[in-house]
Amino acid sequence: MAPNPRRLPSCFPLLSASLFLLLLLPRHSAASPHNYHDALRKSLLFFEGQRSGRLPPDQRLRWRKDSALHDGASAGVDLTGGYYDAGDNVKFGFPMAFTTTLLAWSVIDFGRIMGSELGNAIKAVKWGTDYLLKATAHDGIVYVQVGDPLSDHNCWERPEDMDTLRTAYKIDANHPGSDVAGETAAALAAASIVFRSRDPAYSRLLLSRAIKVFEFADRHRGAYSSSLEHAVCPFYCDVNGYQDELLWGAAWLHKASRRRVYREYIVRNEVVLRAGDSINEFGWDNKHAGINVLLSKEVLMGRSNDLRSFQMNADGFICSLLPGISNPQVQYSPGGLIFKAGGSNMQHVTSFSFLLLAYSNYLSHANHAVTCPQTTASPALLKRLAKRQVDYILGDNPLGMSYMVGYGRRYPERIHHRGSSLPSVHAHPARIACKEGSRYYLSPNPNPNVLVGAVVGGPNSSDAFPDSRPFFQESEPTTYINAPLVGLLAYFAAHS
Ligand SMILES: *[C@@H]1O[C@H](CO)[C@@H](O)[C@H](O)[C@H]1NC(C)=O
Repeated sequence: MAPNPRRLPSCFPLLSASLFLLLLLPRHSAASPHNYHDALRKSLLFFEGQRSGRLPPDQRLRWRKDSALHDGASAGVDLTGGYYDAGDNVKFGFPMAFTTTLLAWSVIDFGRIMGSELGNAIKAVKWGTDYLLKATAHDGIVYVQVGDPLSDHNCWERPEDMDTLRTAYKIDANHPGSDVAGETAAALAAASIVFRSRDPAYSRLLLSRAIKVFEFADRHRGAYSSSLEHAVCPFYCDVNGYQDELLWGAAWLHKASRRRVYREYIVRNEVVLRAGDSINEFGWDNKHAGINVLLSKEVLMGRSNDLRSFQMNADGFICSLLPGISNPQVQYSPGGLIFKAGGSNMQHVTSFSFLLLAYSNYLSHANHAVTCPQTTASPALLKRLAKRQVDYILGDNPLGMSYMVGYGRRYPERIHHRGSSLPSVHAHPARIACKEGSRYYLSPNPNPNVLVGAVVGGPNSSDAFPDSRPFFQESEPTTYINAPLVGLLAYFAAHS
């Protein structure tokens, strides 16, 4: 029942170049075109289902109620709010900050075309930043997690009933965590752009906090998984190191503040912070491909020639995603889904697809293509690759099922999610204690509460999907699967 232990390197054979074109075609759809706008709406509803704290009057996902109203009290601070990361009830700060950064990036690049969903997307960002502001309210301290994960994972309980240990974990000068602090700074900085014209005072608060948190992350360097090993490992252990989050935080601060110091920081620290490492990854642990794509925009707009190496790395990442090209970085399932071993595969699918789309837009504006060792990849090709992944998620796949709960004719019904699988407080007002939840966990019946919009970990490397709660790697949704999908769905809703 652990969320996402570290991914292992995958070793699936590459598909031959002759399959390349096939992967771009929706082979399994005699189906009607997808309703991307409906999927966008649902992808945002999911975030309401993950809310912790006191729910607002405009809460649309009605089967959820207030929960964890005393978070932080044991430490004498207010840490209510924020998001549960997945199917459990812990508030893990590292993936929550990454989720918030990607939600903000989705709004920055695609908010203009979100139509009626823009307001909901902004609320989803703000639910994250309101919490991150509480977690960083005291100088020199960042609260990075609420909830003892062992105590939580030992129970199958609704968040509304929670009686597990709500320990508040923090980092400080003597217990550093440049990874989680760097990501938190990135989230606050990215969100400051979202609110710049909508709520200037809030935007300024976010940016000034981001600057402080980044300074703290940089001055006291270290990995939070050393400082807080027992609380964060193996759940969201930072295996990849904290260096990438410092570059990532600086990149977002550069974009948000336009201050030269951040670009200079990136250039000066490029080598010592190992900007050239493992560039073909992007997720809550590893930010490299995201840094490269984000900074490439500066280069492509002719603003920052000293960042050229980042664009070269972004090109390398894109080349590694082209099916049939001999760079054994990213594999595809026979049905055409990006696949990396280790569980919760959809997180890679959505984050990689987001980068394909974002980069494609930056390239088109500069009239550029990506030069790979054996081919050239046009912006239009990158978009087709991203769309193919989104279409797979929505139902163009060998099983003909959608991996988004509540979308399409068939979708996962037994997702690994406590609140969704237990009867709601409305249907069953009496408390359901820790171990009393087990019979719902083990039940073969569909979940009683539809967590609309949740995208699960997804099928295995042979495109098979068990739809069973104990198979958490396949059946658990996470906030960082959905966050990049918000931007993707907005784009395809507006361009289809
Ligand atoms: C995927 O799941 C199916 C059905 O459970 C199973 O038969 C198959 O062996 C699995 N594939 C891999 C590569 O694990």
